[in-house]
Amino acid sequence: MNSRVLVIGAGSIGNFVGGKLGVAGAEVTLVGRRGMLDEITASGLRLTDLDGADDALAADRFRVATEPDDAGSADLVLVTVKSAATAEAVRELSGKIRPGTVVLSLQNGIGNDSVIREVLPQCVVLAGMVMFNVVHHPGGHFHRGTEGGLAVQDDPALAPFLGVFERAGLELRRYPDLRPVQWAKLLLNLNNPINALSGRPLREELADRDYRRCLALAQREALAVMNRARIRPARLTPLPPRVMAALLTAPNALFQRVAGQVLAIDPVARSSMADDLALGRKTEISWLCGEIVGLGAMVGMPTPVNQRLIELVVAAEQGDRRTWTGPELLGQLRDAAAGGSAERRANER
Ligand SMILES: NC(=O)c1ccc[n+]([C@@H]2O[C@H](COP(=O)([O-])OP(=O)(O)OC[C@H]3O[C@@H](n4cnc5c(N)ncnc54)[C@H](OP(=O)(O)O)[C@@H]3O)[C@@H](O)[C@H]2O)c1
Repeated sequence: MNSRVLVIGAGSIGNFVGGKLGVAGAEVTLVGRRGMLDEITASGLRLTDLDGADDALAADRFRVATEPDDAGSADLVLVTVKSAATAEAVRELSGKIRPGTVVLSLQNGIGNDSVIREVLPQCVVLAGMVMFNVVHHPGGHFHRGTEGGLAVQDDPALAPFLGVFERAGLELRRYPDLRPVQWAKLLLNLNNPINALSGRPLREELADRDYRRCLALAQREALAVMNRARIRPARLTPLPPRVMAALLTAPNALFQRVAGQVLAIDPVARSSMADDLALGRKTEISWLCGEIVGLGAMVGMPTPVNQRLIELVVAAEQGDRRTWTGPELLGQLRDAAAGGSAERRANER
């Protein structure tokens, strides 16, 4: 029998992953907002890929809903809302979902699986991460703009679904403990606020040394607090996180030669935080830089660079529509770092 997959959050990731599973034969229901559901039922889903794959899933081959009313028939639930929406979205499943159902979080950040587990203690809740970027184009078109598969916490309950993920071309990398992967992905996602504040596509932003210097500042600060907290991030890039942070500051030509793969991104791809700001939505900044600031407070280390990024993104959420050039943003973060060092010295005296 085909797997019945319920996707909570019909957005970029939910429609791409759910759509691919539908193409591979799963019975998919996409739960989302009316505007998005109208778009994808009018046109069906078109799912394209960096490597040239081009799949279509006609509208009569998936179901849509604004509420997860048929959660009781789902074999697998994918949670693909933004972190701020997790608790509310999964609360709608409570009392409807069958005990033992596998609920897989496909979200950035560290604690979404814990939030889901608290609401649905009777389910098999697993952490997962999407390692690629998806761009939404009008007409139900979702495009995977970077390399990468899905990283998930391994569990025997995943066994019935491995085949459909494989047929869908969604590589499922299974880890006995996903936390080190989540922390490593968080280090990469510290680029999301920088990308969003830059107002540029990812490829253009990362090709600019000053924006990369901003990311290096944020990553080094994060690595220092993670080290103090004895958190060892997994290695997701060809070079270890600490070396990658150093390499980010290299001149453009050297960076391109050594880490050119980082720039293998669709030219129009942006971070999902850039999409959130453009659409006037709340961002995931508290689940990215906020995790670092929280961890810093826990281990007694100031985190002024990540704190400044939070302030700038919150100002943008509140309507400050300015975009920052590389030198301007770097100036902001260097000033913050200098203030933080002065504060630390004063505290140490
Ligand atoms: N996009 C990417 O390329 C990418 C890549 C890697 C990882 N991620 C991560 O994947 C997760 C999903 O990101 P995304 O970009 O796919 O988000 P998205 O495009 O914003 O999609 C989520 C959708 O779910 C809807 N939603 C929220 N609460 C809901 C509810 N209770 N019931 C039904 N629908 C609800 C949202 O509507 P509203 O906006 O109206 O709330 C939105 O349309 C995030 O953690 C993100 O960081 C994204």
